[in-house]
Amino acid sequence: MTADLSREINLHPTQDELARQAFIVNFKQRVNLGLQKDIKAHVADSIAPELESELGQPLDDLNRDHRKALKRKIADEHLFQAWETLTWIGQDMMWNCVDETLDRDLPRIDEAAAEIVSRKDKVGSLKLDPDLDLPPNVAKVEIHRQPGGFCLEREGVDYDLLSGARMTGGGMIYGAGKGRTSKPGYSAAHFLIQEAEKQFGKQKPKRILDVGCGTGFNTATFAKLYPDAEVYGIDVAAGLLRWGHARCESEGVPVNFIQMNTADMDFEDESFDLVASTIWGHETTPQILQDSISEIWRVLKPGGISFHVDVPNQPGYQGLVDQVLNDWQIRHNGEPFWMGWAEADLPALMTAAGYPEQCQFAGYRPRTQGAGDWFVHGAKKPA
Ligand SMILES: C[S@@+](CC[C@H](N)C(=O)[O-])C[C@H]1O[C@@H](n2cnc3c(N)ncnc32)[C@H](O)[C@@H]1O
Repeated sequence: MTADLSREINLHPTQDELARQAFIVNFKQRVNLGLQKDIKAHVADSIAPELESELGQPLDDLNRDHRKALKRKIADEHLFQAWETLTWIGQDMMWNCVDETLDRDLPRIDEAAAEIVSRKDKVGSLKLDPDLDLPPNVAKVEIHRQPGGFCLEREGVDYDLLSGARMTGGGMIYGAGKGRTSKPGYSAAHFLIQEAEKQFGKQKPKRILDVGCGTGFNTATFAKLYPDAEVYGIDVAAGLLRWGHARCESEGVPVNFIQMNTADMDFEDESFDLVASTIWGHETTPQILQDSISEIWRVLKPGGISFHVDVPNQPGYQGLVDQVLNDWQIRHNGEPFWMGWAEADLPALMTAAGYPEQCQFAGYRPRTQGAGDWFVHGAKKPA
């Protein structure tokens, strides 16, 4: 049987749009990989020696004052100014390109979603909470400079999935623009399960919770990997959950999506065997991260595992130049929580939430697909 692509909950770019995407990926790679390498070489060759002689000591990746001093020094450099301008333009081009596809393709997706979510024989569910107090770090911020942000709701639109459509479209370009390549179909959820099983042996979770699930791309992978499990995905952004629900239903993947804040979850104590997340923690505030870590422990069953995969941008792991570039992204390019995340002491947060120290883990693990590492953290609750 051939799939009916007109019913697919995904973007269908035309050849022209794919060509434009390819140009933007290439443009972003030149900036993210090429220019950043040039900036690092320039700092190492001339700025760092100058700064070290002014400071009277060697530069230290863990010293915030050194980060500030380098930031001041680098601001007037033409290479840095070219990088910031081109980074900004690359992100603009990305969202314009996504919207070009959506202007044409969203009516088809809307129609398909309306039919799919009105079916009687749904395999999963969607529960939205119009009274939820949306955390401002997501509701009031255009994370990644996504137009309207993740919580965008258009007046008068019944089943508004534009924010989910935009996040999905951005995902077609953003990671590739950072030079990240992976086997098609291989996701952060595959990595997470691989690492969890390496660490704790074969898993057969009966109930799985994916916190900060977004459009449910990784949640669907958990459901496919454990077809006998009951799988839940929570997020505060309704449009992302609508997209995830329509997409999972269109593919017959059973996931229960609920609009809920990870810092204040409406689940029973000790009710999940696996609580997972992929690239969620770096988009929370320090307080939300701390409260969420407590909540995750509360809902985890004895013997259950909490396992989280996120960006490795901690000072020390990243040198001073990357920290300065990240600092710019925080202020200008829709990544306002990167530094709070990077400076979070995960073991201390887990200890404060009552996780026994011998149950915790936190550190870097090499990606099994593509270059670089992930930062992982979590714990196994004593049985
Ligand atoms: C970078 S996205 C990752 C989405 C998804 N996990 C993935 O791998 O594609 C981070 C997600 O965390 C969600 N998020 C941030 N803070 C949250 C909170 N306090 N409660 C629930 N979701 C939250 C955001 O709405 C966003 O969808």
